[in-house]
Amino acid sequence: MPDYTLLARQLEALLDTRDWLTNTAQTCAFIVQEVADLNWAGFYLQRQPETLILGPFQGKPACNPIPFDKGVCGAAARSRQTQRVDDVHGIADHIACDAASRAELVVPIIVGERIWGVLDLDSPRAARFSVDDQAGIERLVEVFIDASDFDRER
Ligand code: SME
Repeated sequence: MPDYTLLARQLEALLDTRDWLTNTAQTCAFIVQEVADLNWAGFYLQRQPETLILGPFQGKPACNPIPFDKGVCGAAARSRQTQRVDDVHGIADHIACDAASRAELVVPIIVGERIWGVLDLDSPRAARFSVDDQAGIERLVEVFIDASDFDRER
């Protein structure tokens, strides 16, 4: 497992603009570089009511849009709780963008009272994400939120 405390410090240093768009792109590129065994990492943004649209990502072209009542991403947005899935084949309404994906971690991004979006990570390795990975990635999302201004154009 990576040293997430170190990664959080490195991400803080990397995110040297307040622009959320630049920061989404840098954050998913950084995660793919530093966290092993990922086949997709990216953001879905809440720009329409109860709907997520695809934002900056690293990986294959992905599904878009995702309503709040569908998939693992929708569950994270709806419940505002991180979704950690060991095997997506066991999730009835999992949205398969890439047949190679087995494990998934989706962290909601809450800005003020609003669900702003989610960070979605996919892995081809079942049970890739431990509880400690979840805590580490949630910490990276906090760094992203603290480094970004969201009051400009969404
Ligand atoms: N698997 C996700 C859809 C997004 S892709 O994994 C990039 C889901 O079920 O919400």
